[in-house]
Amino acid sequence: MKTIPVPLKENAYKIVIGNNSLLKLGVQLKSLKIGQDAVIITNPFIKRLHGKAVIEGLKEKGFTTKVLEVPDGEKSKSAKVAFQLMEMIAKYDCLKKVFIIALGGGVIGDLAGYVAAAYKRGIPYVQVPTTFLAQIDSSIGGKVAVDLPVGKNLVGAFYQPKVVWSDTGTLSTLDERQIRNGLSEAVKYGIIYDKKLFHYIAQNYQELLEGNSKGLHHVVTRCSQIKAEIVAADEKETRGVRVILNFGHTIGHAIEAAGKYDYYQHGEAVALGMRVAADISHQSGLLGSVEVAQINQVLSDIGLPEKIQKIRMENILTIMKHDKKFITGKNRFVLATQIGKVKVLENIPLPVIKKAIQTYM
Ligand SMILES: NC(=O)c1ccc[n+]([C@@H]2O[C@H](COP(=O)([O-])OP(=O)(O)OC[C@H]3O[C@@H](n4cnc5c(N)ncnc54)[C@H](O)[C@@H]3O)[C@@H](O)[C@H]2O)c1
Ligand SMILES: [Zn+2]
Repeated sequence: MKTIPVPLKENAYKIVIGNNSLLKLGVQLKSLKIGQDAVIITNPFIKRLHGKAVIEGLKEKGFTTKVLEVPDGEKSKSAKVAFQLMEMIAKYDCLKKVFIIALGGGVIGDLAGYVAAAYKRGIPYVQVPTTFLAQIDSSIGGKVAVDLPVGKNLVGAFYQPKVVWSDTGTLSTLDERQIRNGLSEAVKYGIIYDKKLFHYIAQNYQELLEGNSKGLHHVVTRCSQIKAEIVAADEKETRGVRVILNFGHTIGHAIEAAGKYDYYQHGEAVALGMRVAADISHQSGLLGSVEVAQINQVLSDIGLPEKIQKIRMENILTIMKHDKKFITGKNRFVLATQIGKVKVLENIPLPVIKKAIQTYM
């Protein structure tokens, strides 16, 4: 098992990456001393796949367990579901010392983390991420949230878990589209921070897509280290460091929203966003055409989209315009200066943005 520290001043914790390690979570929790009564928030599908190992391991160590299930999918990341969960926990809570286990992908992690942050002004929780995306991204860094009908992640908090327990063995049940989505974010880490990781993915994408466990373990480990370092440098996104994680996300989010969160999955939209961001970087004189081609190549090799389909340029721009930060006044883009390094640039002219989007329409 690999342990990666997230060295925050007040809320330090560890990311523990193992393979078939769910059974051992109880041992870890015992040493954390965060309570005896575990409320496991998950969905029925993940419970069937991985619930038993978690529950058995906890019971062996003397924990009581209660499982609260929510329906699968982003719709469960709502205020309504969050408050239903809090009511259930409140009824269960008397005379207990409850903590929460988020067992699932990013939806469960964000939702359960938000419940933990809000209930009684905060109770301990742990992240047990079971998707590739959740293991390399959403479970680390303490951003927890639920969606409102008008927009995603609008109600939330920075609330750090007590541990992130990543079992890469759980990734064997993911389908290829989910692996591809996670790889899109892993490529992002390569571009913003680590040339070696970028080339590792470029060379090993086939094995990774096939679910090669050693390869996935390596990528999860490296991405977790990178995210931990970035979060440690800028826990609450106030120092301009954490913003680099948004590479490809400005346009990517707009594409995702323009497709009504249905046509493109997050990693796919981010891949298109990274293509556009690389183009803007090139037009701004920051990034060479060889690097732009390398970025496009690895995304294509992974099987991520090459063209923005079924979405009109105006739609993307309208959504970005609503995000006042980006078009009126000073827009801000994270741009690459080489593979492994980025910088933030403001006031990118609209024609440059449009030209870059047009290249991928
Ligand atoms: N908090 C953050 O910093 C952050 C960062 C990125 C994304 N997010 C959020 O994460 C969410 C997306 O996360 P996601 O991509 O994990 O989606 P998800 O949580 O919806 O999971 C995707 C699907 O995989 C299933 N699944 C989970 N584990 C599985 C397993 N081991 N085997 C097979 N299937 C499994 C789920 O039931 C679901 O159907 C979004 O809501 C996004 O906003 C948060
Ligand atoms: Zn993302």
